[in-house]
Amino acid sequence: MTTDTTGTVARDGDSRPGGPADSPFIRACRRRPVPHTPVWFMRQAGRSLPEYREIRASVPMLESCRRPELVTEITLQPVRRHGVDAAILFSDIVVPVAAAGIDLDIVPGTGPVVAEPIRTAADVERIRRITRDDVSYVDEAVRQLVVELGDTPLIGFAGAPFTLASYLVEGGPSRTHAKTKALMYGDEELWHALCARLAEVTLAFLRVQIEAGVSAVQLFDSWAGALSEADYRRFVLPHSTAVLSGLAGVPRIHFGVGTAELLGAMGEAGADVVGVDWRTPLDVATGRIGADKAVQGNLDPSVLLAPWPVVEAEVRRILEQGRAAPGHVFNLGHGVLPETDPEVLTRVVALVHELSSRRADQG
Ligand code: CP3
Repeated sequence: MTTDTTGTVARDGDSRPGGPADSPFIRACRRRPVPHTPVWFMRQAGRSLPEYREIRASVPMLESCRRPELVTEITLQPVRRHGVDAAILFSDIVVPVAAAGIDLDIVPGTGPVVAEPIRTAADVERIRRITRDDVSYVDEAVRQLVVELGDTPLIGFAGAPFTLASYLVEGGPSRTHAKTKALMYGDEELWHALCARLAEVTLAFLRVQIEAGVSAVQLFDSWAGALSEADYRRFVLPHSTAVLSGLAGVPRIHFGVGTAELLGAMGEAGADVVGVDWRTPLDVATGRIGADKAVQGNLDPSVLLAPWPVVEAEVRRILEQGRAAPGHVFNLGHGVLPETDPEVLTRVVALVHELSSRRADQG
């Protein structure tokens, strides 16, 4: 238990049979026996779905994240269509940063763009601490969703300090994260001040979601794989640990891309589940993460563009390798690509369920 003022409490005691806390997804996160391997997809809400594109045709991205009725509808779409084992809140990692007072926009075809990038100590002070009132639309959307979803768990999420810092320092998406690294190596004190402030914002944002009723959270450190393990431990791990260790009551998933060398450290940050991209087989990943954590992953999203027999063989391989872990949540190794045929996603869900429950029948 933490001593935070928001009064976050462990919710295990509330778990009624059949409720979200007893769902295959939450059971797998907690390394408990499951009736079938649970499956959901990063970026399942959006992109590939025509019903999503229809809604978004007339509403800019950030605005859609601030309208609870749209957040609720978009979050539910992939649950209805694919029968996934969990919903993920429709939002974006920059939503809390915008709520903290940073002028930014999400530009179609580009991603988040920051009007005045963060480069100095005075800039860091522009990132205000947030309260529930700053993100009341998220609180409201989560409360609506928990009612609508019934027994299906809702995953809340936030961006981790390094990945958020990258957007803020670069001013937008970056391949190399060169300005971010220049600040990190060039002014260690400023770097830690920036990440400590971002950790505060992220922690507050995740606590709002937990209080409103999400069943699990995922911390996205999508771009942490740009760092060596030594630099990750020195510059990033303390801040991600501050976030994950400040949360109680729900399973915590920690995910990044290209993080083969960081999997052990990302688990140490305080995760219950470590997300793995497609580069590391799940049995190898489990060896690095340790037997006290579940894994999530790790189908290459591009495989979904291949003929079905290829997809099927990859799903079988991943389920097999996932058996080495004490808990496995099936997912992609990164987000759904926009050009993915949604019917293939639906087939993957059915296949994962079929193959994993057949195995359970056989004991
Ligand atoms: O993909 C990841 O690595 C996950 C973490 C992450 C999110 N947003 C979470 C998210 C990252 C790195 C971002 C930044 C971002 N935001 C980008 C990437 C730019 C880059 O650097 O390459 C983009 C394109 C956006 C804007 C954005 N976010 C759009 C247009 C959408 C809606 C539909 C879509 O998926 O394209 C989002 C939604 C979004 N961002 C979700 C999440 C978890 C929605 C929920 C879900 O996963 O279904």
